Amino acid sequence: MDFTNKIILAPMAGVTDYAFRRVCRWLGADLTVSEMISAKAMHYGDKKTATLIYTKDDDAPYGIQIFGHEPEIMADAAYLLSRGLYNPEGKETRDGILTPLPSYIDINMGCPVRKIVSSGDGSALMQSPQLCEKIITACVKKSALPVTVKIRAGWDKENISCVEIAKIAEASGASAIAIHGRTREQMYEPRADWSYIEAVKKAVSIPVIGNGDIFSAKDAIDMMDKTGADSVMIGRGALGNPYIFKEIKCLLEKKTYTPPTISQKLQLAMEQVWTMVEEKGERVGVAEARKHLSWYLKGERDSASTRDRINRCMTLDELSFTLHSYLQNLK
Ligand SMILES: Cc1cc2nc3c(=O)[nH]c(=O)nc-3n(C[C@H](O)[C@H](O)[C@H](O)COP(=O)(O)O)c2cc1C
Repeated sequence: MDFTNKIILAPMAGVTDYAFRRVCRWLGADLTVSEMISAKAMHYGDKKTATLIYTKDDDAPYGIQIFGHEPEIMADAAYLLSRGLYNPEGKETRDGILTPLPSYIDINMGCPVRKIVSSGDGSALMQSPQLCEKIITACVKKSALPVTVKIRAGWDKENISCVEIAKIAEASGASAIAIHGRTREQMYEPRADWSYIEAVKKAVSIPVIGNGDIFSAKDAIDMMDKTGADSVMIGRGALGNPYIFKEIKCLLEKKTYTPPTISQKLQLAMEQVWTMVEEKGERVGVAEARKHLSWYLKGERDSASTRDRINRCMTLDELSFTLHSYLQNLK
């Protein structure tokens, strides 16, 4: 698995399901990552976890991200996921493969959400370099696939630990490190400080994936130029705008980028929604599709009342009708 020169869709809980990863890939994302998966929930055979790692053959290369803080439980998750052996329903198959094989396992050391850090998971780990070392070493040992680590700059500005943790990750056998240039305390404001990405790049020889505040193709190129990052990772910039991957590819390849028309954009959005409904059923699929459709419509002419209406749709037909009426009214 090569982690250089890649434009990557960031892991986003509640967002980066198979349907969204697929449209991002169509538009040029080279790598995608699952929503974060609780290693502990896997340990207890949680059935919902199996739905979170759902994927298909056209979704490769793809990483599964795990979170937790107990080295053995994390390593167990890496063992099972990297071999397709996670089996929450006690099913048996002839070849033993139960869940699709990802291309790599990513360890979450960056999530800032209170519920996660209060259990000692996510970015809380950045306060305990020794524990990070134990987790990464154990996962690398048990995983049949490459292991990567995703970190922030540190816990807060008094405790910047990204360079230390990146060096530990490299020494413990990680294949790449993704860094979001903010501390846990900053959550998502103010702007990401890309100098942390540069510092990590200078400190390690494994590929470094830069992340934070890429909202245009120019931002992506600027980040690579300013930090020397081997690859870039895009999160919020892809919400309702998977075209950002195409825009970046065009700029890198010096091709002209033609933005989609609103009708093309909503056609793509509906493709995504159909897949969501196909995979999750109409009730869950439609409920989860609403936020994606609102993102697709954000900033579009006269879209406020349509976004409002979308939030009340209960069926696929209602969603299609609402978008169709919006397009008709634009003419
Ligand atoms: C809705 C949402 C969910 C996220 N979930 C995860 C997650 O599950 N795992 C993770 O490592 N980061 C998660 N993140 C952080 C992103 O992967 C990324 O690091 C962050 O958004 C900064 O990148 P951006 O400025 O391109 O959005 C999430 C971010 C958002 C906005």
